[in-house]
Amino acid sequence: LTAAAGPLRDDGPSTSPCARSDVVARLRAAGCVFAEDEAEMLVAAARTPAELSSLVGRRVAGLPLEHVLGWADFCGLRVTLEPGVFVPRRRSEFLVRRAADLLRRSSAEAGEDQGASWTVVDLCCGSGAVGAALMAAEPRIELHAVDTDPAAVRCARRNVGTGARVYVGDLYAPLPARLRGRVDVVVANAPYVPRREIELLPPEARVHEPAAALDGGEDGLDVIRRIAAGASAWLAPGGHLLAETSERQGPSAARAFAHHALHARVARSKGSGATVVVGARPTPPYTGPTRSPSG
Ligand SMILES: C[S@@+](CC[C@H](N)C(=O)[O-])C[C@H]1O[C@@H](n2cnc3c(N)ncnc32)[C@H](O)[C@@H]1O
Repeated sequence: LTAAAGPLRDDGPSTSPCARSDVVARLRAAGCVFAEDEAEMLVAAARTPAELSSLVGRRVAGLPLEHVLGWADFCGLRVTLEPGVFVPRRRSEFLVRRAADLLRRSSAEAGEDQGASWTVVDLCCGSGAVGAALMAAEPRIELHAVDTDPAAVRCARRNVGTGARVYVGDLYAPLPARLRGRVDVVVANAPYVPRREIELLPPEARVHEPAAALDGGEDGLDVIRRIAAGASAWLAPGGHLLAETSERQGPSAARAFAHHALHARVARSKGSGATVVVGARPTPPYTGPTRSPSG
C-alpha cells in the first residue's frame, strides 16, 4: 500500500495569527459555516502567503474545501481528490464498518486461517475511498474497483495503491470473468439522489460534483437496481452486497434486492444518519450423501 491513501498529517507552516484571523473573516463573509476549522486546514496546506491567498480565493468562490485542498478525510485516511471527483461523505464510513464486520464474522464462522483472503468489489468507487478504507481495516482483501469516470479512476488508483485493481467502465462489465461466483462482498455507494431533488443540493455538490455521481433517476434507485440485478452472478454463495441509500429509500432498495434473489435487510446508523441495504446470496442447500438411519 505504498502509494495508497495515507493517515492524516498536520504539516503546514506556521502562519501569523493575523493572517489566520483574516482567513477566518474572509471565509465567514463568504458564508462558510465552519470558518475557523477551514481556515486552520487552509493555513496548514499553504506553503507561502501567495498560495494561501489562492487557496482561500478558490474556497470563497465556492469550490468544496476538499477540492481546494486536494484531499478528504475519510475513515482517518487522507484520500486524494481531483476537482470534479465526488467528495467522500462521512456517512459512508458506516458502509465501510458494515462491510468490515461482515468479512470478520464470515471468516470467524468459517474458522479460516490467517492466510485466507477475501475478494471485494467496490462498484461506483469514485475516489476509491470506500475500498481504500476497507483495505486499511482488513489488509487481507483482494480489491477490484470500478467507475465510469476516468478522473475518479485516476484518484482511486492512487488511493487504493498497487495492491488493488481499478477499472474504467459500467458496473460489473470490466471485471475479470474469473471473479464470477467468487466475490465475497460487493460494496456500492452509487448515485442515489432522486433526479428532481438534485436542484435542492448545496452548490458544492450541485455545481462541483458531476451529475453522474449524484443522479439516481426518478426515485434515485436506478443504478442500485442494476447493481442488485447483477449481484448473484458475481457473489460467491453466502456472499454479500451492501449499498448505501437514504433512509427513505431503504425499504424499496431491499425489495429490489429480494426481487433479485438476495436475502435483504436494512441497517441504519442513528449517529451518522446513514442507511445501508445488505443482501446475502443464499448458500445452496446441502446435496451431498446423507447417512441412512441405520448408520
Ligand atoms: C455517489 S458517488 C460515490 C463515489 C464513492 N463510492 C464514494 O463513496 O466516495 C457515485 C460514483 O458512481 C460513479 N458511477 C455512476 N454510474 C456508474 C456506473 N454505471 N458504473 C460505474 N460507476 C458509475 C460516478 O462516476 C461516481 O464516481
